[in-house]
Amino acid sequence: MLDFSSNYRVIIGAAMLGVGVAVWSQWPDAAPGAAIAAVVVPELQGEAQAGEVLFAANCAACHGVNGVGVDGAGPPLLHKIYEPSHHGDAAFYLAVLNGVRAHHWSFGNMLPVKGVSEAEVAAIVAYVRALQRANGIF
Ligand code: HEC
Repeated sequence: MLDFSSNYRVIIGAAMLGVGVAVWSQWPDAAPGAAIAAVVVPELQGEAQAGEVLFAANCAACHGVNGVGVDGAGPPLLHKIYEPSHHGDAAFYLAVLNGVRAHHWSFGNMLPVKGVSEAEVAAIVAYVRALQRANGIF
């Protein structure tokens, strides 16, 4: 049989639990699918413009719209790791042709991307470099 004070404790306990659940459910957390990096998109010209379309079609599912990354899917290419002195343009051709064994992140391996020509990778590289430059990556 509960007396008055233990009833009180139950009510306070329930209220605290409620506050806890409310705080927890509002807590900002990286949701799967969310962008990982922030991006400023510069005015793109020529090859970089073509690259934007190709990137959106072939790379953005994992690397995010404009290379911001996708939580749970792939890393941002707007990242110091992918500046030209660390991952030169050749890394892009090789990644598309052969895929990439996971080594910098824990997203798993990147599979080769079929149906993207060398000329198209060149356009994608021009686009990614333009984004990187505009966002202070190099
Ligand atoms: C299915 C998901 C997926 C798609 C689609 C994808 N990538 Fe990747 N990519 C990854 C992951 C994951 C990594 C990171 C591997 C690691 O280092 O852990 C990666 C890494 C890379 C790298 C770094 C290579 C290196 O040497 O470390 C480049 C460059 C790259 N991707 C370019 C591209 C381009 C360009 C496209 C589109 C033509 C593309 N990716 C499409 C998942 C993807």
